[in-house]
Amino acid sequence: MSPPVVTTVAEVRAAVDAARADHLPVSLVPTMGALHEGHAALIRAGTGFVVVSIFVNPTQFGPKEDFAKYPRTLDADRAICAAAGASLIFAPSVDEMYPSNSFTSVEVGTLGDLLCGASRPGHFRGVCTVVLKLFNIVGPDTAHFGAKDYQQARIIGQMVRDLNVPVEVRVEPTVREPDGLALSSRNRYLNAPERAAAPAIYRALQAAHMRAHAGEVDAARLESALHAELSAIPGARVDYARVVDAYTLQPLARLDRPAVAAVAVFVGTTRLIDNVTI
Ligand code: PAJ
Repeated sequence: MSPPVVTTVAEVRAAVDAARADHLPVSLVPTMGALHEGHAALIRAGTGFVVVSIFVNPTQFGPKEDFAKYPRTLDADRAICAAAGASLIFAPSVDEMYPSNSFTSVEVGTLGDLLCGASRPGHFRGVCTVVLKLFNIVGPDTAHFGAKDYQQARIIGQMVRDLNVPVEVRVEPTVREPDGLALSSRNRYLNAPERAAAPAIYRALQAAHMRAHAGEVDAARLESALHAELSAIPGARVDYARVVDAYTLQPLARLDRPAVAAVAVFVGTTRLIDNVTI
């Protein structure tokens, strides 16, 4: 059965109150829609009353980014939510989330200026602001995010800690196509040759992972090999390819602590991100 779709904060709160009255735990899966198996895995990870939010959040898109053309596929999304066991879909309008006279936002700090934040100024401010609003609207016990967006999950975990938000953030593994390409709502922008080239991103990350396990300890060398492999992908332009401290996201000299190899690559005009932890 397809879960009900509500569009107002008041309706979500009423539905969550009713679930709480039934002693159900509440989970939240924030998404921008165009759902795929990666989102479905997050929904299945939820327990009790599982709220899926579908909101293409304008404040996290830069002026030259794809906000207007971001795929909006509510009917297909409802079917995926139903199959994955969601209890409620919250699909608000921009006005419902950002009434005129909204002024306040979340200051993310340095974690938001690195990696994706360097090429997308203000992006994580927009992400954290909307996610904090969703936490305050739904009041979930657990909230589920994907490891595909490593920096995003790290920043949200930090926000919850820094601002004492009473929610447990859980991070689920990246779901991939059989050829290794990380599922993404943006994969549908790829034409056939681009789609054929894109799995090389994950192969380059796996190679970095293997080099580290084979004994490479110099992060800069690992990074330049990764960069070179990504640059060799036909039609690709590397936005960044970094090997950083998994916690601070800062550059590393030696691989003497948990690290993450994180990349953003334009394949044609489509910007794809992926990562592996090392
Ligand atoms: P969106 O890109 O729709 O992703 C929603 C959630 O799905 C995120 O937590 C993301 O990490 C996860 N996800 C996406 N692809 C995945 C994959 N292949 N495997 C596992 N999880 C995957 O991320 C956003 O939306 C927005 O920034 C949001 C957090 C909703 C705030 O607007």
